[in-house]
Amino acid sequence: MLNSLVLGIESSCDETSVAIVKDGYRVLANETASQMALHSRYGGVVPEVASRQHLESLPLLVTEVLKQAQVTFDDLTGIAVTGMPGLIGALLVGVSAAKGLAFTLHLPLAMIHHIEAHLYAVQLDSDPVLFPALGLAVSGGHTELYHMEGWGQYRLLGSTRDDAAGEAFDKVAKLMGLGYPGGPIIEKLAKNAPQVTEKFSVSRMKDKSQDFSFSGLKTAVSLEIKKTPLQSEKDREHLAAKFQNTILEEISKRVRIALEEFQPKSLVVGGGVACNQALREALKKEAEPFKTVLRVPPPKYCSDNGAMIAGLGAYQISQGRISSLSATAASRSTFY
Ligand code: KG4
Ligand code: ZN
Repeated sequence: MLNSLVLGIESSCDETSVAIVKDGYRVLANETASQMALHSRYGGVVPEVASRQHLESLPLLVTEVLKQAQVTFDDLTGIAVTGMPGLIGALLVGVSAAKGLAFTLHLPLAMIHHIEAHLYAVQLDSDPVLFPALGLAVSGGHTELYHMEGWGQYRLLGSTRDDAAGEAFDKVAKLMGLGYPGGPIIEKLAKNAPQVTEKFSVSRMKDKSQDFSFSGLKTAVSLEIKKTPLQSEKDREHLAAKFQNTILEEISKRVRIALEEFQPKSLVVGGGVACNQALREALKKEAEPFKTVLRVPPPKYCSDNGAMIAGLGAYQISQGRISSLSATAASRSTFY
């Protein structure tokens, strides 16, 4: 990865982000055009609107990051792009742009798995991860726990059977009549009710697996709102705290079991939900007794960003994992 200079493109959902990363970890520039305001009035992401917006934003962002990093196209050593998973139309915009750049600049192309990049983000502007590690990906579309022997060597320990953690935050916020994305709004409300220790009771997995399930929790919140309609800010804060306490405990519990079993050197956490301060604190408490180092990126690298794509791209290219120009995007895919 030494002496590499990779341009990374992320367009899997509602953020268009482009970055330039040196040597696989040093972020020279990372610019994101958020479409949040555009989608929030619909209470979720509208795929067609997202694709069109990516198309508009991408060329501007590429020009901007080259300027900020003070480099030219000729200085680049590789192009990386999110190839999977995500909204297919949105992914195709980024992939087409990346292929065009790789082809015209005669550069290697790396197609990146978005969730793997969320975990790789802990190395951005930071130290290499010590392996073996546990990897926890908590985003709008994924909630997964992995055993990691190194980058590219993973074993899935558990994943969600229904909603992802971020999706649960978003759906509960919608039920409570709050905006989108729900995670930051619920976190803010819950912060104002630190005295609330209550949790919803959640049914256990019958087969003792480490899988997650959050749809029952969403139903429990919905029933509670029907029983006791939310009338004041205090009611909203109470419910937000009770919901957040439950979801954090559900995540912590599974992490605790895996920490006990594997005693890993690091606990690597990534994805938009990793912005949640209460989750960070809960995981820190879990990791400490095992002397496991908790690695969570700063919030700007937790949510979708081009830097994590460029960083992992540099690594993949250094390993000879170069994608063909005929490779295409996939809305669903695994990387382990
Ligand atoms: O990783 P990300 O930016 O996009 C996906 O790959 O899905 O994650 C977005 C998700 C949304 O569901 C959002 O509500 C959630 O991350 N999120 C949070 C917080 N900030 C963003 N969830 C809980 N607490 C937060 N502070
Ligand atoms: Zn993401």
